Order: sequence, then structure tokens, then C-alpha cells
Amino acid sequence: MASEATLRANHAIRAKYEKLEKIGEGTFAAVFLARNVQDNTKVAIKKIKTAAAGTRDGIDITAMREFKFLKELHHPNVVALLDVFSTGSSAPAINLVLEYLNTDLEAIICDRSLLFSAGDIKSWMLMLCRGMDYCHQNWCLHRDLKPNNLLISPTGELKIADFGLARECGDPGARMTSQVVTRWYRSPELLLGARAYSFGVDIWSIGCIFAELMLRTPYLPGESDATQLTTIFRALGTPSEAEWPVRIMTYSQHCMTLPNAAKFESYPKQNLSLLFTAASPDTLDLLAKCLQYDPLKRARTSDLLQHNYFRHGPLPTPAAQLPRPARPAEVKEEKPATPPAPKQVGLASKRALDAEEIARRKRLAHRVAFS
Ligand SMILES: Nc1ncnc2c1ncn2[C@@H]1O[C@H](COP(=O)(O)OP(=O)(O)O)[C@@H](O)[C@H]1O
Ligand SMILES: [Mg+2]
Repeated sequence: MASEATLRANHAIRAKYEKLEKIGEGTFAAVFLARNVQDNTKVAIKKIKTAAAGTRDGIDITAMREFKFLKELHHPNVVALLDVFSTGSSAPAINLVLEYLNTDLEAIICDRSLLFSAGDIKSWMLMLCRGMDYCHQNWCLHRDLKPNNLLISPTGELKIADFGLARECGDPGARMTSQVVTRWYRSPELLLGARAYSFGVDIWSIGCIFAELMLRTPYLPGESDATQLTTIFRALGTPSEAEWPVRIMTYSQHCMTLPNAAKFESYPKQNLSLLFTAASPDTLDLLAKCLQYDPLKRARTSDLLQHNYFRHGPLPTPAAQLPRPARPAEVKEEKPATPPAPKQVGLASKRALDAEEIARRKRLAHRVAFS
């Protein structure tokens, strides 16, 4: 039972913010635009939905994970947690007060009126790699990197957000769930059910995001969990055992090498330059290093940051000059009398998670060990 002093402190934090409107809705959270009544700045409040199962003392595990990481991580390319308070008494919900970021990389990629230069893509990649280098140095695996979780500040800075699936790594004996990362960005070892994995799962996602920035459409859009590996093999060629000799520890604790794990059609190796026709050799090399099948051969964030791609021209575009879509919040402020447009929940809800993905996440929240 919370003490009187704790309740008063919670109430004082809660009173600092006035909720304005819902701006996002995910599997576990509703996100609101809010105002700090003391200094009139905008903030985002992420209210984590409570679930009967998967909770400890009525507090959702997703909220605890996100709170745990965000309170420790402080970096210009990681979303800042400003405050936290709870609401509701019988079913308490955690409210994370975050810096307000008014768009995300998916909205930018999907906005066909925007043209990207090579320097723009390099700038987003640099911010993503710096943020993830910091997370990995602090033993944090994000496990859900995708354009929709990369928020963009009003001054163009990219900030990694949504740490609801994050967890610490570094213990070589730890067994983790493979049911993480949104399908199109999920690495081959996770798709095969690996339980011992590491930074490579985030690096694979970074590779998919890099490809998507160049193509302006998802690179590996598998239609189901079952066909995602085939989508990958068709795009990159089916790996030989020599290319990926790694043993995969599965749920059933069997050690398997890829050819034994499942039988796949043999697709030929693809030359990345045929699809990424405008990409420089440095660009193609960086992409290939992120999309190595063998997680042990896959680059680390430090390798990415030291890569020639970032050393050679063109220079990364300064954040403030990066392409941005029309800012919904500003449009609303300019025309206060206009009735609200049909609700677009989330700044980029065009690619909603499908039913299979949502069910997977719910199972995960119920099963995952509290850590
Ligand atoms: N700090 C923020 N500023 C502005 N919008 C945000 C912020 N955090 C989240 N959102 C919006 O809410 C959506 C869902 O938030 P997210 O943290 O990704 O949770 P979920 O786990 O539900 O996907 C995001 O895609 C984004 O549109
Ligand atoms: Mg999200």
C-alpha cells in the first residue's frame, strides 16, 4: 500500500500535466499530447494499458521494462523520460511523461512529396547508429527497431523510442524469447526460434531500416511469420552452412544448424547493387554488414560508426535541414476553429500491426519473465 507521502508526490506530478488529445495507440499503450501547465511546453504521455495477466502487483510488465530502461538511458538520440506517475487505484496504469516528438521516420518515408538525398539518409543512419551504440554499450537490446519507433524532434533529431520490448543482455547463459521485433525487421536467428542472441538482432533491424530509407518501401515485407524467412532468402539468397554455421539454441533446447532447422528452397545470392542501383560501394558494404546471416559476423554498432560510409562524402545533412512532412500539430494550431479531422491514431498508423503480430505480442506480455 502506497504511503500518504507517495500518493501526494504522485498527485503533484500528475497535476503538472494537462492531457490534450490522443496521438497514438499501440498494442499496450495510448499516447496523448499533453501540456506542462508550469512552463507550457508540450509533452507526450504514454499511458500503458494494464492487463490482468502479465502483471505484477497490477503494473504491466511492458511499462516496467520501458520505465526501467528510459530512466537509465540519457542520450540525444534516445527519447527522454521526463516524469512518471500512476493513475487509477483498482487497476493502476503507469503514465510515462516523454519529450514530445511530432513525427517519426515512417511518416517521413511514406510522404511521397519528400525527396531524400544520400546525405539525408546518412544523417538519419548516423543518429540511429549513435543512439543504438549507446544502448548496446549499456547492455540494452531494443528488440523492436522499425521506422515507426524512430521519432523525429521538431529540430530534426532522430530519437529511438518504444522500449516496451527492450531487455538487458550480456549474460552469455541467458535464454531469451525469440518472439520479439516486428516481423519485417526480425532477424533470421529469431525467425528460427533462437533463444540465445545478442546485439545482432538490432543490427539486422538497422539494415532493414537502411534499405527502406533507400527504397522508400519495406525491404523484406513477409506476409506471415511462416513466410518471413523465405522472403529474406528470396531477397538475399539462401545461406549455405558455410555462410551460417552457427548453432541455434531453440525453445526445445535443441542445437541446430540452419540446414537442419528447416528445409528451404535454394535461392541464388543476390547482388545488392541490382536493387539499390543508386547506392555507392560504401553504402552497399554497410548494408551487407548489417544483413549478414551469421549473427557473429554481423557488424556491431561500433563497426558501423567507423565504417567508410560515415567517413567519406557526402556529409550527413544537418538535422534541422532534413526533410519533414507537414507538422500536424502546427496545422491544428493555425486553424483552431476547424473541426477535428477523422482520427488518425498515431503519426504513422498506415502500417498497423496485423492480427498475428498483435496476438504474438500479447502472448509475449503474458509469458515473459519479470526482470
Ligand atoms: N514521445 C512521443 N512524442 C510524440 N508521439 C509519440 C511519442 N511516443 C509515442 N508517440 C506516438 O505513439 C505511438 C505509439 O507509441 P510507442 O511508444 O511506439 O508504443 P507502442 O508500444 O504502443 O507501439 C507512436 O508510434 C507515436 O505515433
Ligand atoms: Mg511502437
